Amino acid sequence: ATERSLVLIKPDGVARGFVGEVIARIERKGLALVAMEHRLTTVAVAKEHYAEHAERPFYGSLVDFITGGPLVALVIEGPRAIAAFRQLAGGTDPVEKAAPGTIRGDFALEVQFNIVHGSDSAESAAREIGLWFPNL
Ligand code: CMP
Repeated sequence: ATERSLVLIKPDGVARGFVGEVIARIERKGLALVAMEHRLTTVAVAKEHYAEHAERPFYGSLVDFITGGPLVALVIEGPRAIAAFRQLAGGTDPVEKAAPGTIRGDFALEVQFNIVHGSDSAESAAREIGLWFPNL
């Protein structure tokens, strides 16, 4: 079934000039862009987005990182869009889990600085799209 997913090109991805590269991979896969915005993220939105990690030791540093510079937020759409983008991204750990050929496998070295975020389930996608694009 057609799905939507929230994708973030995180501040490291923007600073390193991978916006076009990430969007090109999304488009080549056949996924559609439904919304896209380059923006600075408030601490409130960052904390809400990563609420499930609130008790983790890296939470504070993750919120600092995600609010530390502009990012690009996108909503993508297509058949199995959530799993399809996670395939493009590769695993969270860009060295141990993400294969070469994936965004993280090709461009990242550290877990925190892993270039992109993609929703991990239909429930997360609905919550995250509501948070980042309340008008959709
Ligand atoms: P993301 O897919 O956005 O979901 C949660 C994020 O937390 C993850 O990508 C990483 O950027 C970050 N993260 C997960 N584990 C760690 C960790 N051990 N240390 C630092 N950051 C982490």
